[in-house]
Amino acid sequence: MIIIKTNNLTKKFKDFTAVDNININVYSGEIYAFLGLNGAGKTTTIKMLTCLLKPTSGDALINGLDINTQKDKIKEIVSISPQESAFAPNLNIYQNLVFMGRIYSLTKKQADERAKELIKEFDLTKHEKKKAKNLSGGLKRRLSIAMAIISKPKILFLDEPTLGLDVISRHNLWNEINKIKEYTTIILTTHFLDEAEKLADRVGIISNGKLVIENSVNNIKEYTHENTLENAFIKLVGESNYENDSIC
Ligand SMILES: Nc1ncnc2c1ncn2[C@@H]1O[C@H](COP(=O)(O)OP(=O)(O)O)[C@@H](O)[C@H]1O
Ligand SMILES: [Mg+2]
Repeated sequence: MIIIKTNNLTKKFKDFTAVDNININVYSGEIYAFLGLNGAGKTTTIKMLTCLLKPTSGDALINGLDINTQKDKIKEIVSISPQESAFAPNLNIYQNLVFMGRIYSLTKKQADERAKELIKEFDLTKHEKKKAKNLSGGLKRRLSIAMAIISKPKILFLDEPTLGLDVISRHNLWNEINKIKEYTTIILTTHFLDEAEKLADRVGIISNGKLVIENSVNNIKEYTHENTLENAFIKLVGESNYENDSIC
C-alpha cells in the first residue's frame, strides 16, 4: 500500500527552485532512503512532507491526508528527527523523553513508562541521568530518534540520522533503525550510499531539486549496469548535473 504519494511537489525560495516537481511513492512498512548531494533538496522535501514548510505548488498525500489542507491530522501520525538534533540541553535523557511524551499528551504515568521502555530499547540505561548537552554525537542522535518515536508514529522521517557519527555509533544506529522498522514506515535522507544500501528497501535519488530515479537498490544497479549503489549514483547524478551544465 502506498503511504506517501507526492504530486509535482515544488518549493521555490524566491527565484531559486529547491524542489522541482517531485513525484515519489513510499510504501507502507518500508525504509525509503532519499539520497542526494548536499543542497540537493532533501531537507526541503522532508519539511514539506511533515507540514513544516508550505509547498509553492503541487501536493502530497500522507496516509491519504493532504499536506495542504489536513496538517493537524498529519501531525498526529508523522514524526521527524531533524538534521540538527533537537532536545532540551539541560535536561537528562529520561527527562527529555518524559517532556516529549507530555507534549504528545501522554499522562505522567504513560510518559514515565514510555520513557523507560525507550531507554531500554535504545540501550541508554547507562546514560539516562546525563544531561543531553553532555552526550556524545551518537547518543545525541539516539536520544533524538527515541524522542521522535515517543508517540509511536505511523511514519517516521529521519533527516541525515548518522551525520557526524563514528563508525561504531553509525552501526549501532542502523540496528536501532531496523528495530523501529518493525512498526513504522521510515523515510531517511542521507548522502551516505553505503547507509542506503544497508538499510533501504527502496531509494529515491534527488539532484538539483529533481527526482532522478526511484527504485530498489538492485533495480537501480541493474538499470545503470553498475555493481555498487555508489557507482550507480555517480553515473545518474553526474549525468543529470552534466545536462544542467550544458543548458547553462
Ligand atoms: N529557507 C531557505 N531560503 C533559501 N534557500 C534555501 C532555504 N532552505 C534551503 N535552501 C536552499 O535550497 C537548496 C536545498 O536545500 P536542502 O533541502 O537543505 O538540501 P539538502 O537537505 O539536500 O542538503 C539548497 O541550495 C539550499 O541552500
Ligand atoms: Mg539536509
